[in-house]
Amino acid sequence: MKKHAIITGGGTGVGAEIARHLAELGVNVTVAGRRQEPLDLVASASSRIRAVTADVTDEGSIAQMFEKASEANGPVNIVIANAGAAESAPFSKIDKNDFQRMLDINLTGTFLTFQKGLEALKGQEYGRMIAIASTAGLRGYSYVSHYAAAKHGVIGIVRSLALELASKPFTVNAVCPGFTETPMLQRSIENIMQKTGMNEEQARVALYKDNPQQRFIQPDEVAATVAWLIGDGARSVTGQAISVSGGETQ
Ligand SMILES: NC(=O)c1ccc[n+]([C@@H]2O[C@H](COP(=O)([O-])OP(=O)(O)OC[C@H]3O[C@@H](n4cnc5c(N)ncnc54)[C@H](OP(=O)(O)O)[C@@H]3O)[C@@H](O)[C@H]2O)c1
Repeated sequence: MKKHAIITGGGTGVGAEIARHLAELGVNVTVAGRRQEPLDLVASASSRIRAVTADVTDEGSIAQMFEKASEANGPVNIVIANAGAAESAPFSKIDKNDFQRMLDINLTGTFLTFQKGLEALKGQEYGRMIAIASTAGLRGYSYVSHYAAAKHGVIGIVRSLALELASKPFTVNAVCPGFTETPMLQRSIENIMQKTGMNEEQARVALYKDNPQQRFIQPDEVAATVAWLIGDGARSVTGQAISVSGGETQ
């Protein structure tokens, strides 16, 4: 059976690393995101990777993403809802639009990706659905209540859908990284520097101090967890929120 993974947000950071790692394992990969350029760059690294533009907040766009992916690369049997965005603000300063934006991209985006993904899996003898959630789905952090609410919601979807699909040869899991060295993290560091006057090193420490290993997670550690989850050996692992965080959540 040929494996074909679709990875939303696959043009940068964690998604791009998962794409490269799975392609090296012989998996066909479709990377999706709103901007063509970073997707093309990832796709240029391997003949197994193809790029499709899509916006995960738009149901029609996700439907097209699955159609184009299966036309080009065969049936999709691994669905990785990785696209996300993180904003920060004190709770009292988050307005309804800010709150909705965090839900749209992080939570509704995962819901729509999984719902269309499940249609793609229908009738297949193997299927994996993986959400890249966050430790912010397992614990709170100051100034990201909207992001944390969305990521807690993602884990709620994963746990419930895993039960619904338990009689099928599909698993559904969340991978929950702590602060991970990607463009998203770099934006957070710059934001802290700008808002607090900290220098870069101080801002980095402020973010990784909660990780007992006192460091940032690297994207390859998240990709390796995904690689394990898509393997046959992980067929009984379902409904889990797997923390990749140096022991930050336990
Ligand atoms: N970095 C961390 O510290 C960290 C920690 C825990 C969890 N995570 C999670 O890991 C995932 C990947 O984040 P990252 O750190 O790799 O950040 P990143 O480099 O900013 O990647 C996010 C990706 O999502 C895509 N995206 C954003 N909005 C989209 C939309 N509406 N439709 C389709 N694609 C969209 C972006 O591409 P376009 O802008 O081109 O659409 C981008 O490629 C996210 O879910 C994030 O919440 C990150």
